Amino acid sequence: MAVYLNNAATTWPKPECVPEAMSMFITQGGANSSRGTSSKRDMSTMNLILDCRMKLAEFFGGYDNLNPLFVTFTMNITEAINVVLHGFLKPGMRVLTSSMEHNAVMRPLRALESKGVNLDILYADPLGLLHPEDLISKLSESRYDLAIFSHASNVSGTLQPINELAEICRDHKLPLVLDTAQTAGLIKLNASELGLAALCFTGHKGLMGPQGTGGIIWEPEFASQVEPFITGGTGSYSHLEVQPEDMPDKFESGTPNLPGIAGLNAALDWLTETGINNIANKEYESDSYFLEKLKTLDERIILSGMQDMNKRVSVFALNVEGLDNGILADELSIAGFETRPGLHCAPIAHKTLNTFPQGALRVSPGYFTTHEEIDSFIEALREIINQPCTR
Ligand code: ALA
Repeated sequence: MAVYLNNAATTWPKPECVPEAMSMFITQGGANSSRGTSSKRDMSTMNLILDCRMKLAEFFGGYDNLNPLFVTFTMNITEAINVVLHGFLKPGMRVLTSSMEHNAVMRPLRALESKGVNLDILYADPLGLLHPEDLISKLSESRYDLAIFSHASNVSGTLQPINELAEICRDHKLPLVLDTAQTAGLIKLNASELGLAALCFTGHKGLMGPQGTGGIIWEPEFASQVEPFITGGTGSYSHLEVQPEDMPDKFESGTPNLPGIAGLNAALDWLTETGINNIANKEYESDSYFLEKLKTLDERIILSGMQDMNKRVSVFALNVEGLDNGILADELSIAGFETRPGLHCAPIAHKTLNTFPQGALRVSPGYFTTHEEIDSFIEALREIINQPCTR
């Protein structure tokens, strides 16, 4: 059995309750949402969606007394970010992002830039860290309409000082959108306490849900200023040929990923029962174990990002002097270890970390990774680094 060390791409395995709930929905539920009658199956589908919305509002500290209407489901966090950026930014507006972003942020922003939106970058240091004083200085030089930052890098795991960054944005009345792809489910986040305009999340990483799920937690006033990016049937206001303004229909057209929502709903129950602090403590302990082993393994290993586990999450990007990271990943794969080499859809982050264009080998342990698996990975890495044919 392979050792899975690619949890930054998607967490695996999922808690058993997740596939069980998805299978139950398909085999025994299976109705569409708001597109039937008030049969038992129709009502149970509507209840499932509402239940999941309520759990997400509570989990992420939603606005308006955890109002579930301000939770939007999307197919993934990329769609969530696109809904926010394309719906809010108009030609002539100014947007600020960081040099540690994934292409889920950079590509929509570059597309909008080509249509007349002004894009500015807040540069992180070579460890991938943003400095609050640099944000203050940017905001004293220019006025922006929106800022969007990722909470933690999908390349180096560097964790941004989000409390400070969000406070500065609040002080400047600058709406802030947060990409939580690598932290949701691992670090407690409260959108309304942070004063976020929108918190975008994915369901299939730290939340332990299935692929094809994600969404947005909205600040209501901000949501009212965003135009729907995707329009179509909502199962409501069927007499209208224009998109309804009511939440959540405004941003949710077409049949949702209902088996995915059933799985995500079960995953949220599992997270609550297991306890997010317990999850974070277990991961912190095993990640610290991994980090210490890695640091002392071989001086030819260069680890990107922060070297202190308190300032990062369990996404480790490394290079071995004189060895191509793609070849290294292949060798590890043959030995039974699943990782991700290359540029991780984040060229600007790799440029910041000085690992462009070669990229890095990314190793991302997860909640279910054991010390034995870490030990065996470290041994395999040692052997590959030292075998004559790969050098
Ligand atoms: N964004 C995910 C990754 O970094 C898929 O691998």
